[in-house]
Amino acid sequence: MCGIVGVLGTHEVAPILIEALKRLEYRGYDSAGIATVNDGVLDRRRAVGKLVNLSDLLVHDPLAGKSGIGHTRWATHGAPTTKNAHPHQSGPVAVVHNGIIENFRELRAELAALGMTPVSETDTETIAMLTQHYMSQGLGPIEAANETIDRLKGAFALVFLFQGEGDLMIAARKGSPLAVGHGDGEMYVGSDAIALATLTDRITYLEEGDRAFVTRTSVEIRDSEGRLVNRAIKQIHMDAARVDKAGYKHFMAKEIAEQPTVLADALRGYLDGDTISLPGEPLDFTKIERLTLVACGTAFYACLTAKYWFEQLAGLPVEVDVASEFRYREPPITAHTVALFVSQSGETADTLAALRYCKDKADKIVSVVNVAESSIARESDLALPIHAGVEVGVASTKAFTCQLNVLLLLALKAAVDRGRMTPEALAETLASLRALPGVLNAAMDRSDDINQAARQIAEARDVLFLGRGLMYPLALEGALKLKEISYIHAEAYASGELKHGPIALIDKSVPVVVMAPRDALFDKTVSNMQEVLARGGKVLLITDAAGAAEAGQDVWKTIILPEVPSILSPLLYAIPAQLLAYHTAIAKGTDVDQPRNLAKSVTVE
Ligand code: F6R
Repeated sequence: MCGIVGVLGTHEVAPILIEALKRLEYRGYDSAGIATVNDGVLDRRRAVGKLVNLSDLLVHDPLAGKSGIGHTRWATHGAPTTKNAHPHQSGPVAVVHNGIIENFRELRAELAALGMTPVSETDTETIAMLTQHYMSQGLGPIEAANETIDRLKGAFALVFLFQGEGDLMIAARKGSPLAVGHGDGEMYVGSDAIALATLTDRITYLEEGDRAFVTRTSVEIRDSEGRLVNRAIKQIHMDAARVDKAGYKHFMAKEIAEQPTVLADALRGYLDGDTISLPGEPLDFTKIERLTLVACGTAFYACLTAKYWFEQLAGLPVEVDVASEFRYREPPITAHTVALFVSQSGETADTLAALRYCKDKADKIVSVVNVAESSIARESDLALPIHAGVEVGVASTKAFTCQLNVLLLLALKAAVDRGRMTPEALAETLASLRALPGVLNAAMDRSDDINQAARQIAEARDVLFLGRGLMYPLALEGALKLKEISYIHAEAYASGELKHGPIALIDKSVPVVVMAPRDALFDKTVSNMQEVLARGGKVLLITDAAGAAEAGQDVWKTIILPEVPSILSPLLYAIPAQLLAYHTAIAKGTDVDQPRNLAKSVTVE
């Protein structure tokens, strides 16, 4: 979603805002803008497209001032144009906003009746206009902002800046995250700790409904009832907020390559010798009769993989759904159900809403998150960190494998708790898991082979991915990765479904990626692959040495991965799926880290 920053500083603020926005650009990159107060005068600069366009603009048309707010946008209301870019200004008020104001049409009509006309198509401008209206009625900036915020329905993180007020920012949080940073004679506001990481390591996370009244030397925080509240200052680890490419051409390449290391670290966080030890609240799977797993996108595919693990290893019934469907289905939650939500950002609006739906119904709310301070983590009874580190590439890679890692550990724990796995068998699986980082490194060595295949895949208009059992969710994830960053239409099917319709698509122009380790389902998948080959299909087979030996010669290309116990195969087969998408995108020349129309964290429905 959009990225927000605000600074009351002791130096010229424009370059500081631009630096912070660079760190936030992954949240949205349709347009960007900043506003400052200089000698009491409020002014702004905005530009369409990447942040670099705004930086260029500022070279020719600088903006002075030691107080300012900035924004990088992912368009919701109104196309990405300069006039729709934030900050929005109405008279003496400038506002940056992340989220959606649901009643903005109603408010606009009210303002129109007062003779006020918007210049943009955005919901955000309405906030600035309403505040200006209240100020024109004689209210001061604080009272006017309070009156305005009281009228807003929907989800928002907001920061206000005012003409004539070089030492005041007002921030409000409802449904979208916002943090206040404490400096030395300076204060900051940002969408997340990453935005503020180069400015301060002392952060206060605002709670739902909070409003913060910030000056250079103080912050007053009031809760949704208007009561003065004390929110803790937390020390953040700079390492955790490090955002650089470390010599890689793209964040995505770095994040793919990091997987062996982050997985090894993540595993250490969950193991106590040969037992699985969860941080926080105990989770006893003997008392659980059903699991409900909910997430969006890649995190949903991690859940779908986990369904196979929980059912096969632990005999635990699992329901899985995408959050946007789950919440409106009004599914009954039966007794002894644990509801588990998976989210890298921990802020995805649909997943959070689904969590809230389950709150009074499920026995326990568990989340698997990458951001420990996120809304989803904070609203869970038990939040399990995936320890992936900051993921900047919009297409999720290391978060996916780290989510799989935690979900697999949970499934193994469930299997032991429920008497379906002996401690010895667990120890054996954990030994294989400990060895997995080395195996993933070996899989990375296939990058050149995959690159060669990718050059041809880049010519295709459509690509099919097939897999059975644990490879079906991986096929789905492979197709999602490919379409996200290469813009090639890709679909995934459970191999057995092919003949029920999609086989009609097969001809020599449609590459078919078959993910098939030599496991119990291999022969069945190979039969489906033969059906493709018999119709002239061009098969890229991803398998292991035994699989390659048995699959026959007719495939277009085979990528041979190391052999692993079959329950670990999803973690391994994620690597070629990611590399295939990455190399195809490079061959097509698309923007790998910031693909069109997407944003990293989706805090609107
Ligand atoms: C795809 C991708 C998205 C996210 C989805 C959920 O590469 O990153 O599909 O997985 O938007 O996001 P989180 O995990 O933050 O809830």
